[in-house]
Amino acid sequence: MWKKFNQLLARFKQEKYIYVAHEITRNNRVFQVRMMRETDVKDVLSVERDVYFGDVPWTRSAFLLELTNPLRNLYLVVAEEDKIIAFAGCRIRQKDCHITNIAVLSSHQNLGIGTYLLAEIKKFAESSYAQKLSLEVRMSNKNAQRLYRRFGFESEKVLKGYYTEVKDDGLSMVYQLEG
Ligand SMILES: CC(C)(COP(=O)(O)OP(=O)(O)OC[C@H]1O[C@@H](n2cnc3c(N)ncnc32)[C@H](O)[C@@H]1OP(=O)(O)O)[C@@H](O)C(=O)NCCC(=O)NCCS
Repeated sequence: MWKKFNQLLARFKQEKYIYVAHEITRNNRVFQVRMMRETDVKDVLSVERDVYFGDVPWTRSAFLLELTNPLRNLYLVVAEEDKIIAFAGCRIRQKDCHITNIAVLSSHQNLGIGTYLLAEIKKFAESSYAQKLSLEVRMSNKNAQRLYRRFGFESEKVLKGYYTEVKDDGLSMVYQLEG
């Protein structure tokens, strides 16, 4: 009985999550939401440069590594007329769904797109039987912290000196999932 259960579990873990591309409407504008592809990485880096003032905290190779990572993960992009305007990604680590990255082009912020991406990640986490969502955020990034708190995240602990390049502390936040 246990052997069968474990075999089923192992098979489940190997299965790729099927994310169905779809459209959403915000402020009468139509956006496509779909899984990130390797060919998107150039545009994803442009979104990073826009929101991090020319910096790319995640390089091209970091994204490519994630997209080919055998661990269970989900990387999404949001596009408007084929132009990528937002992305988000997460990775399952045992019972934890860790949000690794999220950004929305500054011209497209405050439309609810960040919140939508978090909700899509939450669905993925639930389907992967994760028990919580987790992330780290810069202590000075009050905008992002507000988004996470409004979504339901709670502060966990202060990570002193976590961001060495920008010399900022980090804050770890968690969202407990039901069941
Ligand atoms: C943090 C970030 C991802 C938020 O994305 P976003 O798409 O602007 O988030 P949302 O639009 O869902 O929410 C932002 C605000 O818009 C408001 N909003 C949501 N839908 C809205 C709508 N249809 N019309 C007007 N306002 C809306 C929300 O209430 C929220 O308000 P608040 O800040 O007062 O709580 C974005 O600011 C960003 O990319 N920042 C730079 C990168 C970054 O810091 N990433 C996080 C690293 S940990």
